[in-house]
Amino acid sequence: MDRFIITGGTPLKGTVRIAGAKNATLPIMAASLLCPGTCQINEVPDLRDVRVMCEILQLMGAQVERGKGCCRIDARNVAACEVPENLMREMRSSIFIMGALLGRLGKVKVSYPGGCAIGPRPIDLHLKGLAALGAKITEKHGYVVAEGKELRGSDVHLDFPSVGATENIMMAAVCARGVTFIRNAAKEPEVVDLQNFLNKMGAKIRGAGTDTIKIEGVTDLYPSNHSVIPDRIEAGTFMVAAAMTQGDVYLENVIAEHTEPVAAKLREAGAEVETVGEGIHVTARRLQAVDIKTLPYPGYPTDMQPQTMAMLSIAEGTSVVIENIFVNRFKHVDELRRMGAQIKIEGRAAVIHGVERLSGACVEASDLRAGVALVLAGLVADGQTVVDHVYHIDRGYEGLEEKLKKLGAQIRRVQEAR
Ligand code: EPZ
Repeated sequence: MDRFIITGGTPLKGTVRIAGAKNATLPIMAASLLCPGTCQINEVPDLRDVRVMCEILQLMGAQVERGKGCCRIDARNVAACEVPENLMREMRSSIFIMGALLGRLGKVKVSYPGGCAIGPRPIDLHLKGLAALGAKITEKHGYVVAEGKELRGSDVHLDFPSVGATENIMMAAVCARGVTFIRNAAKEPEVVDLQNFLNKMGAKIRGAGTDTIKIEGVTDLYPSNHSVIPDRIEAGTFMVAAAMTQGDVYLENVIAEHTEPVAAKLREAGAEVETVGEGIHVTARRLQAVDIKTLPYPGYPTDMQPQTMAMLSIAEGTSVVIENIFVNRFKHVDELRRMGAQIKIEGRAAVIHGVERLSGACVEASDLRAGVALVLAGLVADGQTVVDHVYHIDRGYEGLEEKLKKLGAQIRRVQEAR
């Protein structure tokens, strides 16, 4: 397995271009299965999860062509309705196949999706929503089968504004007879991007980005061409990296509104964060402690919690981080402690006493965002940090070490003997 070797102490300086959003790309690729034609998706990041999704689509019978930053998906001959267990376990987003295949074929069989180290990843809200549309759901031997040749519109109220459940129900409802309302829907920008892609195909969806989404079922869908929104979490990660290294970085290809929760917190911590043209400029001196509470969008994103904790480990003062979304998203804490961070966990809360300097150590990535948090900690630590299990990071960051090197970071990838 590859590892990163990082020597800390260099402030990041320069310009970095943010890639297309992983969490918009994956549901949109799945949604292309709804259309008996060829869809083109642009600004597709080159990530491990995107490659796994391509593999799943091909197994379902789609033709998938990857170009530089784009993906053409011809779903004319989609016929298979069972996603192999190994691929379901590999990636949570495989669950999006359910809504799309149910809408297209009226039947889908999946195993429970893999959870990562951030806690159990139940799908009860997804299944409740699909059942409300008239699908018959059977769960046995670790598999879930959803069947419904004639889905019908329904009023679905989500107990929690789940991003994945909102997107899955949306996709299935596109082909249902009649009107569907999703209430207490997730308001993330990636949900809006999926709505825009589906509407380009001929769907009739309104309200994504609010807590109520209305979907009028249609009978025909047409090939569409769509560019994915920039990745607000990659952008937030580089904004935090610029601030904690006391650097001076300009991020290109950013939708400022989507990164506002992070920008506001960085300003509160004493960084300068400015929208300049189509990008964001971040500079900072030593940061002050701030408190963070993760919430559904537009609250502080849970996907930025580990990175922010790395930043607060060297901020002046004591910070409190409360993780409200996932039950076990503190796996990075033990690794940060190995680098000298002073962090105490009390249930969903972490109390962080900022230290002057972290010290380089050998640490292990346990999931995508925990892994990148350790890279950021390595950028400011004294001496050398080795981050192991970099494949977690490759799931969601395209060319991370190249982008950091271009900003002056001393980082290199070491390929472990296979
Ligand atoms: C999406 O996951 C993202 N993944 C996650 O990003 C992100 O952390 C999460 O939304 C929250 O913003 C993709 O979009 C591919 P949820 P998802 O359903 O849809 C509970 C990353 O690092 N829940 O909004 O799985 C669940 O256990 C990843 O890029 C149920 O109880 O998130 C969690 O506590 C990590 N039952 C909470 O809701 C359900 O049926 C939020 O989950 C579904 C979810």
